[in-house]
Amino acid sequence: MTSTLLIRNASELVTVRGAGGSPRTGTEMDDLGIIKNGAAAIEDGRIVALGQSDEIAARFSWADTVIDATNKVVLPGFVDCHTHLVFGGSREDEFVQKIQGRSYLEILNSGGGILSTVDRTRQALVCPEALLERAHGFLGTMLAFGTTTVEIKTGYGLSQESELGMLKVIARLKDSGPVDIVSTFLGAHALPGEYRDRRDDYVRLVLGMLETVKTGSLAEYCDVFVEQGAFDASEARTILAKAREHGLKLKLHAGEFSDIGGVEVGVELGATSIDHLEHISDRGMALMADKRTVGVLLPGVPFHLMTDRYAPARKLIAAGVPIALATDFNPGSCPTLSMQSIIALACRQLKMTPAEAISAATINAACALDRGNEVGSIEVGKKADIIIMDIPNHRQLPYWFGINLVDTVVKKGVIVRSTNGYTDEALLT
Ligand code: NIG
Ligand code: FE
Repeated sequence: MTSTLLIRNASELVTVRGAGGSPRTGTEMDDLGIIKNGAAAIEDGRIVALGQSDEIAARFSWADTVIDATNKVVLPGFVDCHTHLVFGGSREDEFVQKIQGRSYLEILNSGGGILSTVDRTRQALVCPEALLERAHGFLGTMLAFGTTTVEIKTGYGLSQESELGMLKVIARLKDSGPVDIVSTFLGAHALPGEYRDRRDDYVRLVLGMLETVKTGSLAEYCDVFVEQGAFDASEARTILAKAREHGLKLKLHAGEFSDIGGVEVGVELGATSIDHLEHISDRGMALMADKRTVGVLLPGVPFHLMTDRYAPARKLIAAGVPIALATDFNPGSCPTLSMQSIIALACRQLKMTPAEAISAATINAACALDRGNEVGSIEVGKKADIIIMDIPNHRQLPYWFGINLVDTVVKKGVIVRSTNGYTDEALLT
């Protein structure tokens, strides 16, 4: 049976429409396609009409459910296009060391960092139910903060068995709740201790894991951490070229602490996105702009690591690189679940305007996951993933910080979170 939801009287209906499923670049990022006093009608999980509130409310006066968004901003749900959401343990001990001046790579190279989370995750995989339940809780918090689509990477298993275990947990999360999940295989996240002096053997093992990933259709993307102390550009090329042969789409972690050629490999192999980019050359920016490779910026990382080296967002935007934003949620470099905090940081540290940051967290982030035709904007035909925020205009979104401004979350046309208590209870479990 058809059910219709009407959202009306929004002080701003921020549509981010008009990009046609492509990412916004340059000055387009400042154009949010705002309809003042706007309304949207939703039928069976899809957006069917948009426009001035009076007109849409009259056309859909018979709607089953009506939300009054007076004095509120209505936005597309956030797309968090880069996370490491499944992991065991936490790393507050290293956080204290970082406060005292120890660097992220120093900690990794001495066997801590990612490798300590690998130990904790391998232990946790013995009983995947607890790992699953914890990850499910993280997703619930993300949803309450307005995120409706999330990418999740493996990379804390680093053995055939444990990487497969992580992929299975991610697959079960897809069935566990309303948030849409995109799965990424990151077997090349770090060199596990047992392969310390056998790099080539580990790269071969990752190539073997890719066979399993392909056979079970367990991931949509393959990612590699290109960095000193992780994998070099040539190892990344070998792994990503094989992944592409197997039909996986590509992502890279590149330029987080140094520029060692990851951008060039990513562009050459047709990666959908290249992420981090705190260190990137002018040539790298030109290559990405030319191929319209999405640059996913993660300002929560230098903030949490206290490095003071942020991605050159203004230069990237001026060069024409499509910019997205994500949390990078993980226990080492960015333990936040909130895209609102990331938008707030992007404005303050990357000097992005509120409108640019919103484009980056919605339509461009959807494009970083090849979902630009499905989500990331409020347009007729798209999935009704919509958030209502308790602010009168979008510029207040990054202005208030450390506060959850979300009033209501609509996922595929269903109210799944609401401060006034009206929700579909079945979806909250
Ligand atoms: O994107 N840099 C590599 N991977 C993550 C951090 C993972 C961790 O420290 O556990 C990142 O920053
Ligand atoms: Fe990451």
